[in-house]
Amino acid sequence: MIDQKLAADSPLRDPGFEFGVATSSFQIEGATGVDDRRPSIWDTFCREPGRILDGSNGDIACDHYHRFEDDLDMLAELGFRHYRLSLAWPRLMDINGRPNTKGLDFYRRLLEACHERQIVPNVTLYHWDLPADMRGGWLNRDTAYRFADYASAVAYRLGDLMPRIATLNEPWCSSILSYDIGAHAPGHANRAEALTAAHHLLLASGLGIQAMRAERSNASLGLVLNFESLVAATEDDQRARDLAHAERNRFWLDRLTQREPSSDLMAQGQVPERPGDAKIMAEPLDWLGVNYYTESQVMRADNRRGYDTFTKPGIEKTHIGWDIAPQGLTALLVEFDRDYDLPPIYITENGAACDDSVNATGDVNDDQRRLYFRDHLAAVESAMENGVDIQGYYAWSLMDNFEWAFGYSQRFGLVHVDYDTQLRTPKQSALDWQRFLASR
Ligand code: FCB
Repeated sequence: MIDQKLAADSPLRDPGFEFGVATSSFQIEGATGVDDRRPSIWDTFCREPGRILDGSNGDIACDHYHRFEDDLDMLAELGFRHYRLSLAWPRLMDINGRPNTKGLDFYRRLLEACHERQIVPNVTLYHWDLPADMRGGWLNRDTAYRFADYASAVAYRLGDLMPRIATLNEPWCSSILSYDIGAHAPGHANRAEALTAAHHLLLASGLGIQAMRAERSNASLGLVLNFESLVAATEDDQRARDLAHAERNRFWLDRLTQREPSSDLMAQGQVPERPGDAKIMAEPLDWLGVNYYTESQVMRADNRRGYDTFTKPGIEKTHIGWDIAPQGLTALLVEFDRDYDLPPIYITENGAACDDSVNATGDVNDDQRRLYFRDHLAAVESAMENGVDIQGYYAWSLMDNFEWAFGYSQRFGLVHVDYDTQLRTPKQSALDWQRFLASR
């Protein structure tokens, strides 16, 4: 089913094309209070009233910390040979900047368990769980240097088990969504702060790449960005659309490639740029991760951003309310390939939230997700036909998990999780993947 639209000789049918699933530490691990883990900004954010839709938190989540062996068996059983996961900084470094042996032991066991099952781990170092005690969070330039210390320590101690490493997941979310829109931790609403955070995040990534290269010259190092397809609501909104597109999408690639900025975004805040920063941010990457979910309409607006985005009536949406727009993925990939000199691309996240439940016969019929995967795989194939160098695709997510500000109300998994019993049930989409991967 999910491969229905692929050509018989599609490169996605080639066993050399990587297929995997993705997760992140805070969303699945639980066990927040064990083995000397420090609280993260998401632990504190979850405790602020009104921040999380269902008032939930990550204390237990999928209890993956204690169940990782079974979860990896399940992943291997589905036929995936690649797994994108993240490490929790608060587990791995203590408050004095020294590695925490218990955290290192946990991730060594987890990574070894991947290799034992012939699953290649693709590790992200920062998927938003910043230690809560880092003074000033991403507004503090020092956080970038502490990140590089963490990257260096992890590359030194666990690098033998990590062939592919990304520094950050979606710095747009950790800056604009967290410091300007305020929907993610720490939940501020201040545009100048968001631009400062963005600057420090990109600096952290560049410093992290340098630190890891010094430690492990053979690791393949990347960064994961998230893009959204943006369309002008009317002809008069084209300028607003271009501004939004520049901020949401092109800004990050401009900085990574030291290109002239696509907008005057940087002029909007007092960006704390110091001599040499631009070059550090553009430290060459071995690969670029692309996360893609949806498309929005853009309308000009008299607010601090200069525009508003909204979903389009009449377009099919997933349960989280996001428009389904596979053609947007192809268009973005082709545009970026044309305009920038980029390293090979991996689609590091793509998936759909559906209102899933286990029926009387024990099945989860998630037809919308199955079609979503079918159409987005075709979109990836089409970008490749247009010359974009794409090496792999990771579905979000292995299993239902803590969906940030939406708590447990949104299910993105290929595998259903019953949060009362922690029972895992593969959905029909997971069985599609199993059939497809077995056919290659
Ligand atoms: C991405 C995040 C991921 C998950 C999906 C739905 O922005 O990286 O953790 O929440 O969205």
